Amino acid sequence: MSTELDEAISEAAQLIGKTESLVRVVLSGSRRAMSPVATRIDIRPVLIKSNLVLQVASNDGRQTQTKNYDIGALNVAELLASGFSNILIEQTSGSHSLKITKKDRPLIHRHSGEKEQILTHDRAKNRLLDPRDPFLREVGISDKDGVVKPSRQDKYRQVEEFLRLLAPTLKSAIEAGHVPIPSKKSPLVIVDLGCGNAYLTFAVHQYLRSIGIDVEMVGIDIRSESRRRNEEISSKLGINSSIHFRAEEISNASIDRVDVVMGLHACDTATDDAIAWAVERDAKLLFIAPCCHHDLQTQLVETPDPWQIIARHGLLKERFADLLTDALRAHILKLVGYRTEVIEFVGGEHTPRNLLIRAVKTGAAPDESDRFRYQELISLWKIKPALATRLLDDE
Ligand SMILES: C[S@@+](CC[C@H](N)C(=O)[O-])C[C@H]1O[C@@H](n2cnc3c(N)ncnc32)[C@H](O)[C@@H]1O
Repeated sequence: MSTELDEAISEAAQLIGKTESLVRVVLSGSRRAMSPVATRIDIRPVLIKSNLVLQVASNDGRQTQTKNYDIGALNVAELLASGFSNILIEQTSGSHSLKITKKDRPLIHRHSGEKEQILTHDRAKNRLLDPRDPFLREVGISDKDGVVKPSRQDKYRQVEEFLRLLAPTLKSAIEAGHVPIPSKKSPLVIVDLGCGNAYLTFAVHQYLRSIGIDVEMVGIDIRSESRRRNEEISSKLGINSSIHFRAEEISNASIDRVDVVMGLHACDTATDDAIAWAVERDAKLLFIAPCCHHDLQTQLVETPDPWQIIARHGLLKERFADLLTDALRAHILKLVGYRTEVIEFVGGEHTPRNLLIRAVKTGAAPDESDRFRYQELISLWKIKPALATRLLDDE
């Protein structure tokens, strides 16, 4: 190594050693004929129980592993010399960037400007998914530096919110024996029906793997462009052995074994197709976020007394039809042996489609009163929900 480069690296190591003013460090790229220990490393000082430590997040192009080092315990000079071509050091007074050229020449740029040092561990802890996860960059939620784009904040929040709903439900379903314990030999099979651009499909895959759950994900979408795009991303990320995409109709999705079904924002009765598909394959857990509703809108022709109070207002009638559709979906799931809840998916300020039906297969037979109520409601309104046509042919 040239003396000039030696000096540049040791200057960078010294700057990183000044933890009182260090904001963050990003190591990326690789020098000619060298293989650094990771694709990208992010370092920042954080306070854990009043102790200042260096939090090191190493990403190998597939996932991120985070480790905390006591000050002085991390061999920074060795890490910097291991083959990274870009070293960015941000301090409270500005930034220092060292770029190492193909000919091993150091190019140094300094910029002054105040930056805030944030030592809280919470920010990272509150997030289930690291914004630097390469899949977020590939699907366009994060930028090349691993920062969530301002225009994609809602999408990121939705992804996080979904993982927050999925994780505890899955954990309790496994503990209660409703879902078999996943293993390498028999991974948890999750099918995402109507996956579209697969933000949530990738997020679930990455998150479950990061917490040590063996998973096989399948994303189904009628559009072949979605399959092509999603497959390209999964190949690029090197995760295509455990995440697959198919261009198929939900109702004909050709998968035999499934544990968990996601059906998020599949249009109109595609949601009913997704629920029916899951029930017919004996899926143990369902996460269904309905999208637009047209099925019952058109069936609510005669309004029984005293419901004119609502139905004479077009807007209220429309909303009522949406509620009726989802209430009946949840109830039909109950009739076929699922414990069902309707919960808020993500606050209404982020998306109007904010309802989630969460169902766990218990196999419990429904009460007669549940059947009776269902019959009474559909007779009163003279309706037949699309889901009933698919699942309750005799009712
Ligand atoms: C609004 S997007 C939702 C995408 C994703 N689930 C999400 O929440 O971000 C609905 C997707 O469902 C797909 N879709 C709608 N009806 C379908 C059907 N019957 N079979 C397969 N895919 C369908 C569409 O092509 C579209 O990509």
